[in-house]
Amino acid sequence: MTGEIIIAPSILAADFARLGEEVAAVDTAGADWIHCDVMDGHFVPNISFGADVIKAIRPMTTKVFDVHLMIAPTDLYLEAFAKAGADVITVHAEAGPHLDRSLQAIRALGKKAGVSLCPSTPESAIEYVLDRLDLILVMTVNPGFGGQSFLDSQLEKIRRIRSMIGDRTIRLEVDGGVTRDNAAAVAAAGADTLVAGSAVFRGKSVAEYTANIEAIRVAAETGRVPKRQDKAVQPMRLGEAARTR
Ligand code: DX5
Ligand code: ZN
Repeated sequence: MTGEIIIAPSILAADFARLGEEVAAVDTAGADWIHCDVMDGHFVPNISFGADVIKAIRPMTTKVFDVHLMIAPTDLYLEAFAKAGADVITVHAEAGPHLDRSLQAIRALGKKAGVSLCPSTPESAIEYVLDRLDLILVMTVNPGFGGQSFLDSQLEKIRRIRSMIGDRTIRLEVDGGVTRDNAAAVAAAGADTLVAGSAVFRGKSVAEYTANIEAIRVAAETGRVPKRQDKAVQPMRLGEAARTR
């Protein structure tokens, strides 16, 4: 089932010296979700921030915190991110041998469970955990840094995963190098949730952030192949009311 388009700005591209203000600004600018890139310098060759930073920015918005854990191991830290205010917690299929257990643990914490696949990881890696998932995140760059170029090779993977999802209420998220120029192709391939860092946090004002988000949203909407949407069962859309702390 393909849901309505969601735009999730990645705060990795925000001004870290004013992170709280940046979260509030991009909320005002129309972000549907806030994508939080957690990096440990082990699973990826970069270090960003941890649960304490997520806890600190939580009061700045009621929008969904879409937490992307680029860490290994993962299970030790899930509770801390859940308590810090994450709504969706996404782990990498490559981060350890027990993905099914990690996804169960996320749901046991009352959070939405996501899995992310690096560009070289085939969709078959998640074939046996589909019923543990609320979100699948396809990396269209090699994880670790913002501002990289989109890997067109991943469009076929997005199409195949859209087909794997079938009628399940699983969001299909794409992350890395997404811009107003490729958002149509991303949505046409079957994605309904688009992460964008450098393409959103361009400029410094709410007005610029608003224009950047809107340009990506419009492009994605134009790219989608109209899909029958059963109004009775909408895919997960975590709005303020539905946010779980
Ligand atoms: C990369 C992160 C992405 C990245 C997106 O490892 O997972 O979320 O920050 O930034 P852009 O949109 O600039 O590629
Ligand atoms: Zn990310």
